[in-house]
Amino acid sequence: MPASKEQVIEALRKAFCMEVETITNYLANSLHLEGVRAEFIKQALAADIQGELLHAQQLGNRIKQLGGTIPGSLELKFDQKALQPTEDTTDVLHTIKGVLQAEQDAISHYRSIIKLTDGDDYVTQDLAITIMSDEEGHRQQFEGFLKEYSKK
Ligand SMILES: [Fe+2]
Ligand SMILES: [Fe+2]
Repeated sequence: MPASKEQVIEALRKAFCMEVETITNYLANSLHLEGVRAEFIKQALAADIQGELLHAQQLGNRIKQLGGTIPGSLELKFDQKALQPTEDTTDVLHTIKGVLQAEQDAISHYRSIIKLTDGDDYVTQDLAITIMSDEEGHRQQFEGFLKEYSKK
């Protein structure tokens, strides 16, 4: 049995919240980190904000097309514990691991939307596949950073 439109809208609203939280935390960490080792990661995070914002806009468009409403600030639910700025502003590894967690969570959620819409809502499915591909690219980039920054 295909998922109801309400279920799809709810899953898209959750994805929208996750994107907005990711934007918030990439912004915070891109400003919070300091030091030579942090500089490149700060730039990568600042650059990724635009991509995640585009995801939120695309999700919002689809929510509208399906007749749903876009969550405003009071409806946003946040829980990205791993991506909070730390006391040690040079702890780049903490941020890299937090980013990997966020990207993995996003990939898992888009995968669930792809399954939810399979054989029924192809437009939403196509969007979820496209965004998931971006998130896999981000994950790969930060896995590379993890390798390099884990070296002593
Ligand atoms: Fe995203
Ligand atoms: Fe991402």
